[in-house]
Amino acid sequence: MPPVSATIVQPAPRVRGQLHVPGDKSISHRYALIAAAAHGQSRLQGYAPGADCQSTLSCLSGLGVAIDRDGEGAVILMGRGCGAWRSHPEPLDAGNSGTTMRMLTGLVAAQPFVTKMIGDASLSRRPMRRVIEPLTLMGARIESTDGHAPLTIHGARLHAVAYATSVPSAQVKSAVLLAGLHAEGTTSVSEPARTRDHTERALEAFGFTLTTSGATVSVAGGQRGTGQRLAVPGDFSSAAFWMVAAAALPGSRIQIDDVGLNPTRTGLVDVLRRFGARVEIVDSSSTAGEPYGTIIVESNRSGTVEIAPEEVPGLIDELPAIAALAANGGEVSVRGAAELRVKESDRIAALVAGFRGLGIDADERPDGFVVHGKGTPPGGVADARGDHRMAMAFAIAALAGRAPSRIEGADAVAISYPGFFETLDRLVA
Ligand code: S3P
Repeated sequence: MPPVSATIVQPAPRVRGQLHVPGDKSISHRYALIAAAAHGQSRLQGYAPGADCQSTLSCLSGLGVAIDRDGEGAVILMGRGCGAWRSHPEPLDAGNSGTTMRMLTGLVAAQPFVTKMIGDASLSRRPMRRVIEPLTLMGARIESTDGHAPLTIHGARLHAVAYATSVPSAQVKSAVLLAGLHAEGTTSVSEPARTRDHTERALEAFGFTLTTSGATVSVAGGQRGTGQRLAVPGDFSSAAFWMVAAAALPGSRIQIDDVGLNPTRTGLVDVLRRFGARVEIVDSSSTAGEPYGTIIVESNRSGTVEIAPEEVPGLIDELPAIAALAANGGEVSVRGAAELRVKESDRIAALVAGFRGLGIDADERPDGFVVHGKGTPPGGVADARGDHRMAMAFAIAALAGRAPSRIEGADAVAISYPGFFETLDRLVA
């Protein structure tokens, strides 16, 4: 186990400032994976700097994909189609990244060799049966330890399936679509609720064709994509922490430029407005089918927000941040989010324990949580349990404290947001 760092967060009356956030993690994974499956050189500007997206690059290099950086730090990736990938003698290490493991499994399932994938302790606890099942139906053979990593993927000639996912999961949908690109026939995936559609948009950007009808996406096998020059917008899920801080702390105003605004990701905007904050979106544009723009959030008042189950897929990664909305006033109540229990940590248990440690009133539900803000909390100690979004949610909640708070395991922020604490220092100054 790596040493666990702790960071002290000082109380702050408000946050103010203008900033950019790192490139979108979900989009970066997809651009790298699809560029590696396409033909020709791709240049990915603004590729997410966190450890998760580096795990995707190192797994792809392990498979023989040539990856470099240019003078501006953009990722240069030479795609020669998955047919040029070669078996790697050592296991590919996805680190903490569920997206790397699940989506890459979809691609290697179609290769004529065996791939072993491992992850860290957290990833090794996360459910993999959800990708093993559809890929097995398509013809691959995948060994696991009771549905968990390490995975040994025996690639095969795949055949198309029509698959209905039982949980709304963009990672599962994407794994099946990426496998479908290399299967015989037309593969389709139906979801019980709409999840983020970055894979669909990215495939089109690389020249692949797919069709969407309601909640079903279909892709024909045997297509050839072409390398692209793409820019990754800022990560809305990283921006979420500053948006929440600005909404929760009186007198705050934050402007975040060039943030991704894909409508399957932005459920938080409506939540902040319901809570009582002012949220403005300006200068919207789009790049490679992904909308982005400037978000301005100003505090106004603290209200009560109930998050309904049908909203959850559109804000699943923002729920830890959303909990911090009510750190010092108002109430946040969430249902239908049992998936939080199988993220990088059990985010329901970790969140409630951490908030209580900070002196904030919070309760668990089997499928969610409630946070009751009762004025300035005392501050205290919260353990991020190795989970990047927990560390950032606790840091934001701690700003409302009367006394400094200690966030255990704060270095986990490097998974998605290296530099988070430096930016925090700037915004509270
Ligand atoms: C992601 C999908 C979501 C999300 C995760 C990133 C993606 O997970 O929580 O952080 O990039 O596809 P699930 O697919 O497990 O819902």
